[in-house]
Amino acid sequence: MTRNIEYCKSLFDRCYSPYSKFNVVTVLVCKDKIYSGVNVENCSYSLTVCAETNCISNAVADGLDFNDAQYMIVMTNTADEITPCGSCRQFMAEFLPKHFKVHTIGNNAIVQTYEVKDLIPYTFIK
Ligand code: THU
Repeated sequence: MTRNIEYCKSLFDRCYSPYSKFNVVTVLVCKDKIYSGVNVENCSYSLTVCAETNCISNAVADGLDFNDAQYMIVMTNTADEITPCGSCRQFMAEFLPKHFKVHTIGNNAIVQTYEVKDLIPYTFIK
């Protein structure tokens, strides 16, 4: 975990957040691999892609078998950690199991841990 937290910090530079200046990095730690995502903003603000969604999309594009996913870290460059936005929670629910653990971390180094089922109860599923 500590090594992956350090890895997250090294990715802050890749965030594209000229409008909000709010950097979010996500990593999805898997059996043999680690996927990353950063927030990517756009001058047409609503086109912004969140770090969590970006990360999961990278894993899908790479053909990840989500049974091999172990946990996710969401890191921000703010004092306090954040919890993922609603659309990222719905995105998580599509690919990650109910009991999958999501760790959120800010600069205060406090690690909060949530399960997907608690982030998004009563999930919409087809
Ligand atoms: N953001 C994320 O990347 N993930 C979230 O869960 C919440 C918000 C990004 C979007 C935008 O670039 C910036 O944070 C401020 O909202």
